[in-house]
Amino acid sequence: MKKGFFITFEGCDGCGKTTQSVIIVKKLKELGYDVVHSREPGGTVVAEAVRNILLNPKNKIFPVTELLLYEACRSQHTNELIIPSLCSDKIVVCERYTDATVAYQGFGRGLDRKTILSLNRIATSDIVPDITILFDSDLKKGLQRVDIRGKDRLENENIAFHRRVRAGYMWLAKKYSRRIKIVKTGSRSIEDIACEIYKIIAGRLKPSGKLGAK
Ligand SMILES: Nc1ncnc2c1ncn2[C@@H]1O[C@H](COP(=O)(O)OP(=O)(O)OP(=O)(O)O)[C@@H](O)[C@H]1O
Ligand SMILES: [Mg+2]
Repeated sequence: MKKGFFITFEGCDGCGKTTQSVIIVKKLKELGYDVVHSREPGGTVVAEAVRNILLNPKNKIFPVTELLLYEACRSQHTNELIIPSLCSDKIVVCERYTDATVAYQGFGRGLDRKTILSLNRIATSDIVPDITILFDSDLKKGLQRVDIRGKDRLENENIAFHRRVRAGYMWLAKKYSRRIKIVKTGSRSIEDIACEIYKIIAGRLKPSGKLGAK
């Protein structure tokens, strides 16, 4: 039985998911929580190997192949890391999860949404995040930021693709408004955004040692 707390970070490329998840993980650990920080695609040895295939710009991958690789990756990651961590009362902070597949492969690639939602359920054994922080950010700013580091296969897609992804995230935020909390980044500082995220998450957590969603 799941007793921990599952937090996901979502949003377009370069919006600050890694930056903010590192900050919240550090803060929660300081407060005495047992925290696991992970990411998708990836998170375990097998899933990280699939990540390398998925994100390598040299690979030509067909849309359905891409979808199935993401879901295969998710199944491995969920069963090997997320479920065992939640079952041992840990907080799991994960950069990207099921919503990303709806946004990128559903809205971005145009694959059938219902199929994706049902594959998500199979790959996760119906585990759903307790809370999802979704960054509403400037697309071009985000892409410029990741350009400095070198773009991966999906980041290399054109701006129209990224606009569809963003629309997909907004569709999800409306559909799952209780779970998904939108955080606007604009030109706010990293510290200011971190403060808002902490408030959202702290309001949902029990004191350390008594974990389990409220
Ligand atoms: N609020 C902010 N203001 C200015 N720069 C920021 C802010 N947040 C993040 N950055 C910078 O933008 C870059 C991208 O941030 P980050 O890697 O956290 O994004 P990401 O969402 O994890 O990207 P990806 O989608 O590629 O994983 C980093 O260099 C980071 O330092
Ligand atoms: Mg990142």
